[in-house]
Formats: sequence, structure tokens, C-alpha cells
Amino acid sequence: MGTIEVVLGDITRQRVDIIVTAANESLLGGGGVDGAIHRAAGPRLAEAGARLAPVEPGKAVATPAFDLAPVKHVIHTVGPVWEDGEQGEDLVLTSCYLNSLLLAEELEAESIAFPAIATGVHGFPAERAARIATMAVRSLPIIDEIRLVAFDEETSGLLREALAEPVREWCPTCGAAAIPLVNGCRLLPEARQALAAGAIGLGGFLLDDDTFPQWGCAQEHYWTNGERDECRNQVALNDAIAVTLGEDRGWSVP
Ligand code: APR
Repeated sequence: MGTIEVVLGDITRQRVDIIVTAANESLLGGGGVDGAIHRAAGPRLAEAGARLAPVEPGKAVATPAFDLAPVKHVIHTVGPVWEDGEQGEDLVLTSCYLNSLLLAEELEAESIAFPAIATGVHGFPAERAARIATMAVRSLPIIDEIRLVAFDEETSGLLREALAEPVREWCPTCGAAAIPLVNGCRLLPEARQALAAGAIGLGGFLLDDDTFPQWGCAQEHYWTNGERDECRNQVALNDAIAVTLGEDRGWSVP
């Protein structure tokens, strides 16, 4: 498993294979981190972006990084605009991170830097965003070096705190933060909600050793460990993992 670190500073100064920008749907550039990245990469970035626009919230597309070399690519992802937290904002933000990581893997990147997506102009509460960012990158450890770049001390502190939160269970195969699976048709209301959100998956199938798997990960490894009832109790804590992956890979069917 690679590293995940919090860095305080300007994302345009990061020497990584890929820099992620918090874009708008037009990909023409804006203010905040997007403005800084467009200034550093030069006008060809907006030209390349315009050819790929529009990009829906939660999705990610890549362009060359132009004048940001040796950075190879810029990934443009569009974060959610915060309304009240009940409009699927968490899931869109989670998808921004996961889709960016999947695209970075396709581009064979070894390192990637993320800004605190959606926490500026889009108004996403900083602490909640920090928790989602760390949960998302820990659930899909497919890039060797992941940097979460904070532009101010407060964001840096929040990201560090979120990263210090213990993960209940790690995948023994790939090192991802695990997702608890629930079995049976009499699900608690919280479990139903979490299922709909992709925070847990449905188990109910047998492993080779004739046990029901209690845990799964985003890369479709399944295993058994610990008390199944404890997994149910954990459901409420896992509120923002990967609806994107769940839908794609079929383990978050409500
Ligand atoms: N390096 C790292 N982080 C930065 C930088 C920088 N150079 N500049 C700003 N930030 C931080 C902000 O402090 C904030 O925490 O990036 C975070 C995201 O803020 P915004 O850039 O406002 O992004 P977002 O909230 O996702 O809003 C996106 O703003 O600029 C427009 O085109 C963009 O419409 C889109 C919207």
C-alpha cells in the first residue's frame, strides 16, 4: 500500500504525476484553485478542457498539464455545490475523489495531488469534506503516493485529524479501508440508508470456507473477520463510500 499525506501549500508547486483541479462544468477555468492551476498551466489548459466539456459533478476528465511540466496531467473534477447536505453532496464529493483515482490509474500515474475539492466557492463544510476526502482515498489505494494539499492551516489540521481516525478494518489483500457487508433481509433502517448511499454492501454469499463474508473492499475482495453484529453497528459511521464503485461493481444494490 502507498502513502497518503497531508501537505500545506500551493498545489501548483507539487511535483507529482497528476494534479487534480476543482473545476466547473465548462473546464474553462475559474477562481480559487482552478484559477491558480490554469494560470500555472497556461492557456492551452482551457483550450484542451473546452474540448471535453461539459463535465457533470462527480465525474473526472484528464488533459495534459502543459506548462506545469514535469506534472504530466491535470484531472478536472467538478465538486458538488453545497446546499444543505441532503441533496447527495457527500456522494458527489466521494465520486470526485474515486473517479479521479480511477482515471489516474488508467494514466499509469504513481503520484497525485488533490486540493480540498468543493470547500471554497462551492461552500462544502470543511470538516465534513476532510472526512470524505480521507475516507475516499483510503478506500481505493491504487496510486502509490496520494497528497491531500491544504491551502490553509485549518484545512490542513482537519485533514490530519481525519487521517488519524482509526479505520476499523483494512482489506488483507489490497490494503484498502474496508466496507462492512450486511446479510439478511431484515435490515435496520440505518442499514437501508447506508446501502442506498453505497456505504455498505450486501453480503449473503458464501466464501470458500463456507462462511458469509463480513467485509468487502472497493476492489472486490471479500473476507470474514470479527463479529457480524459489530459490522451492523458500524454502518452509521461509514456514510460516504463510493456509490460510483458500488453501482459499477454491483455490491451496493439497495
Ligand atoms: N493550492 C491548493 N489549494 C488551493 C489553492 C492552491 N493554489 N487555491 C485555493 N485552494 C483551496 C481553497 O482554499 C479551498 O480550500 O482549494 C479549495 C477549493 O476551493 P475552490 O477553488 O473555491 O473550489 P470549489 O469550492 O470546488 O469551487 C469550484 O470555483 O473557481 C471556481 O471554476 C471553479 O466554479 C468552480 C468553483
